[in-house]
Amino acid sequence: MKKLRLLFVFLIVSVTAFAGEGMWIPMLLQYNEKEMQEMGMRITADDIYSINHSSLKDAIVLFGGGCTGEIVSDYGLLLTNHHCGYDYIQKHSSVEHDYLTDGFWAMDRSQELPCPGLSVIFLREMRDVTDQVLYQVTDDMTEAKRQANISENMKRIIAEVEKETSYKVSIKPFFLGNQYYLLLNEVYTDVRLVGCPPSNIGKFGGDTDNWVWPRHTGDFSVFRVYAGKDGHPADYSADNVPYKPAKHLEISLKGADEGDFAFVFGYPARTSEYLPAIAVDQEANVIDPIAVDLRGQILDIYNQYQEQDKKVRIQYASKHAGLGNGWKKWMGVIEGINHFHGVEKKQAYEKTFMDWCNASRQRHAYIGLLRAFEKQYKALEPYRVAYTYMTNAGLNIELIEFAGSFGRLAQVTKETPQEDIDKMVAALKNATKAFFKDYYQPIDEAVAKRMLSEYLKQPVDFRPSFLNDIKDVDAFVAQLFQKSMFVSEDKVNAFLDGFKASKAKKLQKDPALKAYQSLIDFYRNEVNPKMAPINKEIDSLQRLYMRGQMLMEPERRFSPDANFTLRVTYGKVEGFKPQDGKQYRHFTTLEGIMEKENPDIYDYVVEPKLKELYRKKDYGRYADKDGTMHVAFTASVHTTGGNSGSPILNADGQLLGLNFDRCWEGTMSDLVYDPAICRNISVDIRYVLFIIDKFAGAKHLVDEMTIAE
Ligand code: ARG
Ligand code: ASP
Repeated sequence: MKKLRLLFVFLIVSVTAFAGEGMWIPMLLQYNEKEMQEMGMRITADDIYSINHSSLKDAIVLFGGGCTGEIVSDYGLLLTNHHCGYDYIQKHSSVEHDYLTDGFWAMDRSQELPCPGLSVIFLREMRDVTDQVLYQVTDDMTEAKRQANISENMKRIIAEVEKETSYKVSIKPFFLGNQYYLLLNEVYTDVRLVGCPPSNIGKFGGDTDNWVWPRHTGDFSVFRVYAGKDGHPADYSADNVPYKPAKHLEISLKGADEGDFAFVFGYPARTSEYLPAIAVDQEANVIDPIAVDLRGQILDIYNQYQEQDKKVRIQYASKHAGLGNGWKKWMGVIEGINHFHGVEKKQAYEKTFMDWCNASRQRHAYIGLLRAFEKQYKALEPYRVAYTYMTNAGLNIELIEFAGSFGRLAQVTKETPQEDIDKMVAALKNATKAFFKDYYQPIDEAVAKRMLSEYLKQPVDFRPSFLNDIKDVDAFVAQLFQKSMFVSEDKVNAFLDGFKASKAKKLQKDPALKAYQSLIDFYRNEVNPKMAPINKEIDSLQRLYMRGQMLMEPERRFSPDANFTLRVTYGKVEGFKPQDGKQYRHFTTLEGIMEKENPDIYDYVVEPKLKELYRKKDYGRYADKDGTMHVAFTASVHTTGGNSGSPILNADGQLLGLNFDRCWEGTMSDLVYDPAICRNISVDIRYVLFIIDKFAGAKHLVDEMTIAE
């Protein structure tokens, strides 16, 4: 093990990179510093991450468990995407205060809105604990023994560190289990909504433009982090004070030119860059097409009903966005992998790997790897397919999913304390209200008919047993919706009123809950027991393959797959050539919003006030040197889900914009990164400030920030 550790350090030191690719560990950024500076960076790795003095990392947070945010004032002011704040904005919205539609701006701190359940996490320190985690772990152990040893070691290390710190301590694997880092985090739970633009700006282009360039979305929202009077995390209290960060980001109003160095600092969630060809092939040519097909059919139904009725359009807006986001992305992945020969590139690489294995007897441990992958992925495939059907064709039937949330209540007995039952009932009453607010039965019935018809095409052994009772789908669905109480808010509420354990039987008999139970049993008894051991086997092969690749290419600088830890990724501000004869410029402007304007198309409605500002060219100091208002820009920076809201910074570490999406042609970058076509999309910080200041009249927020003119 020791030898291998030394090798890793050496591997990281050696420098030859793949332009744009790589999500780098901030603590090890000194190994990228030279390249970053050669590309134009004027600051040091130490300015970005340090534990000895304040650094840019002190301004970056994991926002709400799924996005990134950054602190932009000495008073805890935070920027993230509109789509990241969406849930919290929605929770504060009602017919009287429709902040989603109209936007919201706190004109002073007393108007800021607390967001229960929202937290932000600051990384205070990270440490390499590979040696300690792999202590007494040997290559000849069984996988089970290895895992047991590792988790024992982790527990011990965490317990030791916890004695010396008040921070939250965790350990995460990197390089597919070849390295381990300990993270010291601080979690702030009083985070308040300060402002957001109307959806016409924050979600301009909506699902139509999602994943696509050219883009004109003002995808930002503003929050503030609060702390106890001592500056430490504290749950919401009116007495809390704005959090004073060790560092907040400076903002540049200069914009960026084509070719300028830029980097993104944030929390990418998950990438899988080191998969074998067979796994990429399975993802792009088996799994994704099923999900795309099923979701596409559901979205067709949504569209059809949403077009007919304004209320339905609003009810299904968020569901549509959720299903549509994955649907569209996976289409891009399929197209990208096939068009840019992702599988073939992996195969060619594997051939080189095999040649390397065969060249020395010492490499015998790696020789069987690819064949073993082949075997395991083949075995996995039918279960992955079954899982994809279960989640997409089964659980997207809202009635069944909703009924499922009553599963625990259906299990209560005379022994269950009434107090526990009452708690469950209260929570279910809230869930019932929320569910019916956005439920339209004709859509759900249509979805159920379509999805169950699709599901029935699956082999009997790979589908839940309730499907076996279906002789005629239409008749089955009609019965289901007639007999289940979960179609009616009144019925559900009447049932919940004065609920006692004796009523649980009735729940168990409800056909929608029975269908749900059948889906879950199928997963628990058929799918998971088969899938889990195969996945374990794949994990261990993957770990070995990673190590083999590193040994084969000692000159290559590898970056670990994303795992929701803080990373730095860098590249250049640049456009790209998506197709022969087509060239994308790297930025868009307000002109483009006016070009797209269409009062009849929901996604392209433009706010009158924005039009007025455009007409007067009233851009103030936020205009570009070319006189226009820049809205968004692309860069060759490697990003993924979770990077939304991340700052994109210039050579001096100043804020240029907020990352929020990727271009369609390069969405396969989670599996195969191609520097020629993979581009991230950010909203220009000048557009953000222009909207805050000129559009919303909330200049006091801009005044809080530090602007480098
Ligand atoms: N595609 C971006 C991401 O994956 C933005 C999604 C939100 N926007 C939307 N129109 N659904 O999260
Ligand atoms: N839109 C994504 C997010 O929400 C970012 C991406 O996938 O590029 O994190």
